[in-house]
Amino acid sequence: MKVVGGSASVPLAKAIAFELSTNIVDVAFEKHTGGFPDGERYVRLLGSVAGDHVVLVQTTHPDLMIVEFLLLADAIRDAGARRLTAVVPYFGYGRQDKRFLEGEAVSAKTIGKHVAVDANELLTMTIHNPDILKTFPIPAQDIDGIPALGRYLKSADVDLLLAPDSNAIRFAKTASAICGKPYDHLEKERIDSYTVKITPKKLDVRGKSVAIVDDVISTGGTIATAARELRSQGARRVIAACVHGLFVGKANVNLKVCDEVIATDTVQSAHTKVSVAPEFAVAIRAL
Ligand code: R5P
Repeated sequence: MKVVGGSASVPLAKAIAFELSTNIVDVAFEKHTGGFPDGERYVRLLGSVAGDHVVLVQTTHPDLMIVEFLLLADAIRDAGARRLTAVVPYFGYGRQDKRFLEGEAVSAKTIGKHVAVDANELLTMTIHNPDILKTFPIPAQDIDGIPALGRYLKSADVDLLLAPDSNAIRFAKTASAICGKPYDHLEKERIDSYTVKITPKKLDVRGKSVAIVDDVISTGGTIATAARELRSQGARRVIAACVHGLFVGKANVNLKVCDEVIATDTVQSAHTKVSVAPEFAVAIRAL
């Protein structure tokens, strides 16, 4: 087995290769220093994969990383790989999982269809709606990334875990089982892609350190609204913890209300503090 990492996921690919005690095949992402002037992607495998089972690790966010995934998968096949396992740690476009209005693309299905062109199977993590994976043309599994957050929170200064909405209760519950801290939840109403409203609810947070646990932080609006509510109820410390830290737009400004922000390496950022490599290694070994 060999591991190849796309440029969105090189540190995670290396961590997975380490967990599996296998080799990484390096990739050149630029033909000339600075890349192509028009911003198009370039990939070149710098080692052999002929006859190998290759694990390609690449998050499909932002959009150019989808192109890079396709180029790498095709190059790996052309180079004679025997089997290709696609590991898409954060499945970009996963949230458009149905046709809400006539004529819309079911974007998650579209990306899945194209990932399947060269891959034998797909592993992804904490996808918005795991049911969408059943519509993909190849076997596809959702791996739970929350245990990685639970591991981190176990040794952090945290008294209580909090789900920002009822959908996130399952995340707080899983993390709670691993780190041994209790959990509660708030109620959120999404107004639009940028605005959320949190219904105030009396929580026992006075003087406590609270970690808000969610699958994704995008604009940081959900977490910031929840964090303000916790502060107004006397929380001593507020931590934001997510599997996928996208941190788009003014997220870092919005998140200033938090004392600490924790994300995994499904999307590499300044807030990446814990790796999901052990979770993927277990799933790859079980294939
Ligand atoms: C919503 O369903 C998700 O669980 C997250 O709460 C949401 O994606 C976070 O987005 P934002 O950071 O933009 O509020």
